[in-house]
Amino acid sequence: MKRVQLEIVLGTIFVLLSAAIVIILGIREPQRLADYVLQQRGRQIEFGAAVFQNNCTACHGSQGQGITGIAPSLRDEHFFTERLSEIGWGSTLEDYIVSVVTTGRQVSTRPQYVGGGTPAMPTWSERFGGPLRDDQIRAVAAFIMNFEQYALGELPTPVPIGPVVDESTPEGRGQALFTQAGCVACHTIQGISTATVGPALDGLAGRAGSTVSGLTAEEYIHESIVDPNAHIVSGYSPDVMPQNFAEILTEEQINDLVAFLLDRTQ
Ligand code: HEC
Ligand code: HEC
Repeated sequence: MKRVQLEIVLGTIFVLLSAAIVIILGIREPQRLADYVLQQRGRQIEFGAAVFQNNCTACHGSQGQGITGIAPSLRDEHFFTERLSEIGWGSTLEDYIVSVVTTGRQVSTRPQYVGGGTPAMPTWSERFGGPLRDDQIRAVAAFIMNFEQYALGELPTPVPIGPVVDESTPEGRGQALFTQAGCVACHTIQGISTATVGPALDGLAGRAGSTVSGLTAEEYIHESIVDPNAHIVSGYSPDVMPQNFAEILTEEQINDLVAFLLDRTQ
């Protein structure tokens, strides 16, 4: 082959190869873009999980499952399918979450959730004096939207973290209730919760019998749950502990709680 011919052949091969590379990269571009968007969303959700952990679990529960009497679940089917029409919201659920979190809720729209009293849910946006930036609020909304596939049963619900309890005994049922009924939002019990709105309840069994004269330890703890204002622990304020546990819990559940607290002797 003459030199000129060889150059033409090599040149042609080079041009064809370059074109092939450009075409292949071009075809893969949308995929790469999609991967990138997914990756960014993943990071945002992860970031939102941390925001949720630090600011929202005291009222909405460790896994967003809600706390009886305090705040609603953010991961049940109702929230993802019916809540928007119930509230008359015209845009997307994600926008609704951003909006509610930004401004907070002065008064709960549902009497069964008292939240933190007034306001029921504080304002979160720093634009209104709250602690969170807009990107943190959008991240926490992305995190909550991520519950949808669990809420609609498309993915199995992860097992909640927390101590394993034996629900065949009153003490065990009381321990489970202590979390489910939202006591954990305000009280510390070693190994279960770390809240400080109300007094720590470890060792309560030891002092409960001598707190109010005429009441046994059992009677005092029972009264503290059904009628918290009857006796105010010194250093704490009345009307902070929800006054309606006698309505939202059965007598048997209250007795289980009492049994659990009597069992925590230190
Ligand atoms: C002091 C308790 C409290 C804290 C802390 C709290 N919330 Fe709320 N939240 C509530 C109450 C109470 C409601 C109102 C429920 C209603 O209107 O029925 C609510 C409502 C909501 C709603 C609307 C739910 C619905 O069904 O309409 C969203 C979303 C929400 N909160 C997200 C958050 C996020 C995210 C955080 C953390 C940044 C947070 N909340 C922290 C008490 C709280
Ligand atoms: C919103 C916060 C809050 C929630 C939720 C809450 N408590 Fe309280 N609790 C308090 C405060 C504040 C006090 C102290 C003031 C008083 O005596 O009422 C208190 C007092 C008590 C006392 C008396 C403690 C002592 O040292 O004498 C008991 C017992 C108690 N709570 C049990 C419970 C149980 C059980 C639950 C869940 C069913 C619960 N609390 C839910 C805030 C709360």
